[in-house]
Amino acid sequence: MKLENLNKFPDNFLWGASTSAFQVEGAYLEDGKGLSSVDTRKIPEGITDTKVASDHYHRYKEDVALMAELGLKSYRFSISWPRIYPDASGKVNEAGLKFYDDLINELIEYNIEPLITIYHFDVPKALTDEFGGFASRKCIDYYVEYAKTLFKHFGDRVNKWITINEQLMDMFNPDFSGTRGVDGEGSMKLTYQISHHMSLAEKKVMAACHEMLPNAKIGPVNCFQVVYPATSKPEDVVAAFDAEEILSYMLLDVSVKGEYPKYVWNYLEERGIAPEMLEGDEEILKSTKPDFIGLNYYFSLCVEARNSKDKNENLPPFWKYDKFDVVDNKFFRSSEWMIHGTDPVGLRLILRKIYTRYNLPIIITENGYAQSEVLEEGDIVNDDYRINYIREHLKQCKLAISEGVELLGYCPWSFIDILSGRQGFSKRYGLVYVNRDEHDLKDLRRIKKKSFHWYKNVIKTNGKSLYE
Ligand code: BG6
Repeated sequence: MKLENLNKFPDNFLWGASTSAFQVEGAYLEDGKGLSSVDTRKIPEGITDTKVASDHYHRYKEDVALMAELGLKSYRFSISWPRIYPDASGKVNEAGLKFYDDLINELIEYNIEPLITIYHFDVPKALTDEFGGFASRKCIDYYVEYAKTLFKHFGDRVNKWITINEQLMDMFNPDFSGTRGVDGEGSMKLTYQISHHMSLAEKKVMAACHEMLPNAKIGPVNCFQVVYPATSKPEDVVAAFDAEEILSYMLLDVSVKGEYPKYVWNYLEERGIAPEMLEGDEEILKSTKPDFIGLNYYFSLCVEARNSKDKNENLPPFWKYDKFDVVDNKFFRSSEWMIHGTDPVGLRLILRKIYTRYNLPIIITENGYAQSEVLEEGDIVNDDYRINYIREHLKQCKLAISEGVELLGYCPWSFIDILSGRQGFSKRYGLVYVNRDEHDLKDLRRIKKKSFHWYKNVIKTNGKSLYE
């Protein structure tokens, strides 16, 4: 690479933005859509459901026009599985295909490249009822059939695909993976079995994509938390290393290398929670590899080696292991929703680590800042905190690029205010404000936040304005 290009974002850098179907679309039972695992979950009191969300289903044209105004090169969204296959009969819902036809065509009209997540936390409820979603191997065939339908129908216009969004969050959440009510729900044994089924499923779908669409690219999306040791005590350093292996490298190693990291496999075996491997599984896992890695990054973690007392007791299940305790990092200040603090340098570190380990191009598929926001008079949202967050993370991306990482694109989460995965509509991430409250739908009108105008300029200048 020429010296003068070292610090630049590549000319074809994919400046994007992300959403997912159940968080943005609404219309949860319209035009033949079936219910999904997330549509039917028990919602904590005070929090809204998926019925309307951001009403993107009815307002996609207006939303795409805003994407075009923003200058997006790429839009990452997911297809709602139960909109295409509402039940377990195998019959396709043509109206579901039509909605995405219209959306994709609209994007292409504006030269915005679709980046499609095939599965983002919404297993058809029918598959939960029938056999417990991803708890059963049967789900693999349903997922493969669904993905093949998408490749066949949209493959003439869509060249970038994502298999599964955040397998770690998915395997631990029965309301995402469709495993609510299954025997052994919540046990680590079942959790790793669910993950194994997802890994087999994603491999089969990658293979199908490579066969059906030889020019397309496909990859997984994982959340990755860089893990710091709480001190330089060697035991803490080992604990941090273990945590990264268990939380992140396990899934990526299976996706890319087709095998579980030895450390993780032994850890699972010792505790009797390793997934059941059937004959042929290893072959499937080794059969193919992704073309890129999608990376979701919000914050970093800090751990210390497990002493005598379990400090993880009150943490979400995906951080509860007997080798380490998650502790505060004194270098980061937490805010309302970003309770672990924010760490832009951590993003650069991860990009370096992932690229060194796998040598595959990376797309940042999510990175964003949540805040409860109110519309000020004159339709204004001055979200300087979000601008700061994205600016600092983008600067670290640029450093990573100059350090040799092949970074294809960056998609902030989220293009527009969406329903949070677990905390309702008040937890806002968007560049565009949606005028609704948790329960009062108001007029759902779209309002550009300050970050919208700021990001527009970043895209227009291909990143130069980050430094002005
Ligand atoms: C990622 C998901 O886990 O994080 C998104 O892919 C989600 O769907 C995002 O919205 C932020 O999490 P939350 O729980 O704040 O919505």
